[in-house]
Amino acid sequence: MRQLIKSKCDAYFDEVVAIRRQLHQHPELSFCEKETAELIKKCLASKNIEFQSDIAGTGVVATIKGVSVRPTIALRADMDALPIHETTDLPYRSVNEGVMHACGHDAHTAMLLGTAFILNDLRDKFSGTIKLIFQPGEEKLPGGASLMIKEGVLDDVDLIIGQHVYPDLPCGEVGFHAGPYMASSDEVNITVKGRGGHAAKPAERDNALLAAAKIVSKLSELYPEKGGDVVLAFGSFIADGTYNVIPSEVNLKGTMRTFDEEKRKALKNNILKVSKAIASEYGCEAEAFIEQGYPSLKNDVKLTEKCAAFAKEILGKDKVKELPQLMTAEDFAWYSQKVPACFYRLGTSNPEIGIKAKQHTSDFNIDENAMKIGMGIITYLTINLL
Ligand code: NI
Repeated sequence: MRQLIKSKCDAYFDEVVAIRRQLHQHPELSFCEKETAELIKKCLASKNIEFQSDIAGTGVVATIKGVSVRPTIALRADMDALPIHETTDLPYRSVNEGVMHACGHDAHTAMLLGTAFILNDLRDKFSGTIKLIFQPGEEKLPGGASLMIKEGVLDDVDLIIGQHVYPDLPCGEVGFHAGPYMASSDEVNITVKGRGGHAAKPAERDNALLAAAKIVSKLSELYPEKGGDVVLAFGSFIADGTYNVIPSEVNLKGTMRTFDEEKRKALKNNILKVSKAIASEYGCEAEAFIEQGYPSLKNDVKLTEKCAAFAKEILGKDKVKELPQLMTAEDFAWYSQKVPACFYRLGTSNPEIGIKAKQHTSDFNIDENAMKIGMGIITYLTINLL
């Protein structure tokens, strides 16, 4: 089977590279992936693969049935690009000004199409059903994953796999982390209000600026920047007074991240409590509004260990790495809260040929050879898990 998958990956590689380049050249922002969806549909139709479209907007779900119906494994690729002005000199760089595939979702979509082609060819060789989820809007709240779940994509699914490119590993390697892997991410908004007024007349005004400063410093004492499994960081502090005017309102914006849903609740309550208590010391009032982002991404331990073992079979032991937890967030987390999930990383950098830029940067690129490896692994994992 390994040999058969490898030869299929070789056979479809050029087609998959061409798809990725076409997507890279025509990136679309979150929930606007119209041309992307059209290309996906065209590719699936060209191989007579059954699909449903217009799910959560531009989402597409393809289904490949093996010799029996159960179990059902879902594979997910995200489709959207970022509002970044591309600065690479690739011949297929973005023609959509200010939009760029800087997170590798072009490669995810192309690889999942390649995987669909291979699994479709091999469908009399496995039992079970494979659902290929082409998902819009990973980069934008509330996340396309949550909308697709609402439309029922997971209803008949036993487990889900997601593969994401990763410039921190070289092309040829993959990485796994069993258990909680990526953090939840919520947006923190705090408004401190008091009587504004003349800086030189403290008796006639409050000091919302001082109260807000104390809130930031107290919270950073409680949740220090380095160490621990919680991030609480403020990136915006707007006090729009002037030399001799203390403003009546100060607005703070920050991010709050953790791996544990209980800790997430506790953190949220504590931010509210600390803000209100400090504001009142200064005769001010504080309101805190925490906009819910993605939950934490939890890799099912058994499933992830199995996947890592299968990856070793196909790549060799030394090419499969154990990864540290990340404080960044990913909307695949929504799926991982519903069914056993494994989200792993595909190494894509190649410093020798200058491919080393990080994700979400204007010169991000991948070594396309990684896509052949990615297709091979996800196909092999899927067939072995069925
Ligand atoms: Ni991404």
